[in-house]
Amino acid sequence: MIVPGSASQSLAAALAAETGQPLATPTFDRFPDGETCAAVPGFDAETATVVAATTSNDAFVELLQLQDAVREAGATQVTTVVPYMGYARQDESFGDGQPVSARAVARAVSAGTDRVVLVDPHEPAVTDFYDVATTTVSAAPRLAEPLGDLTEPVFLAPDESAVDLAACVRDAHGHGTTDFCRKQRDYDTGEVTVEPGETDPAGRDVVIVDDIVATGSTVAEAVRALTASDPGPGRVVAACVHPMLVGNARTKLAAAGVDRVVATDTIECATTTVSAAPAIAEGLRSVR
Ligand code: R5P
Repeated sequence: MIVPGSASQSLAAALAAETGQPLATPTFDRFPDGETCAAVPGFDAETATVVAATTSNDAFVELLQLQDAVREAGATQVTTVVPYMGYARQDESFGDGQPVSARAVARAVSAGTDRVVLVDPHEPAVTDFYDVATTTVSAAPRLAEPLGDLTEPVFLAPDESAVDLAACVRDAHGHGTTDFCRKQRDYDTGEVTVEPGETDPAGRDVVIVDDIVATGSTVAEAVRALTASDPGPGRVVAACVHPMLVGNARTKLAAAGVDRVVATDTIECATTTVSAAPAIAEGLRSVR
């Protein structure tokens, strides 16, 4: 039985349709002091697949509660799908006294499950933090589906670490080149600066590919670096697996010159255009 977290309801429904498993209907309540209570009334299966993006601290606690609720109701095998793993970017200690937050959350998730499936975690190495069998799947190839015809496309990573992701979308699209910008972030101010890549974008359609769009600053600065050239690029598309889109991020992208945003449903929002469900279904078949 598929058991959705509150932030993953559409994706869980798509996964239920993809796998033919029934869909549970959890409830999400809150006590007067603010504590959450996620419950799964009527759950009576032997196996449970909890699908819960940990987009917030509350969503993270909900995930733990859903794992516990299905065990309490008799599930003997629990699989946990984390479509978006919060804290995955804190995958090392960044200074004196700092935690490795990705490890802390991975350990907590491991305690309530037999196996884990992650979708495009920011750092693939975070799988090592889990104490149970863990596999990662990529929904990035699906981002090519809504792109349609593109003119001499360049698939551009905003920094070198996203080059493989850009290549993956390019391969799924079928043609085009890849390139990457050079990004620097000032962690005190949050300010992002991006130097353009080697490619002359004049007249070419550009697909900027990143794993996460959070504040939108990275993609917006990448677009500014592109449009500084004259003549500028053709159409500009932002493609990301995880559309976190915090605050005014969507407006920031539009103001910078992004014509279209394509994203998956690992984080539910109005921008979602493709589902990660087929990739997750494949992961569920392979994780042991
Ligand atoms: C960082 O390395 C990630 O790949 C993304 O580039 C980053 O999380 C995007 O954040 P923002 O949208 O806040 O610039």
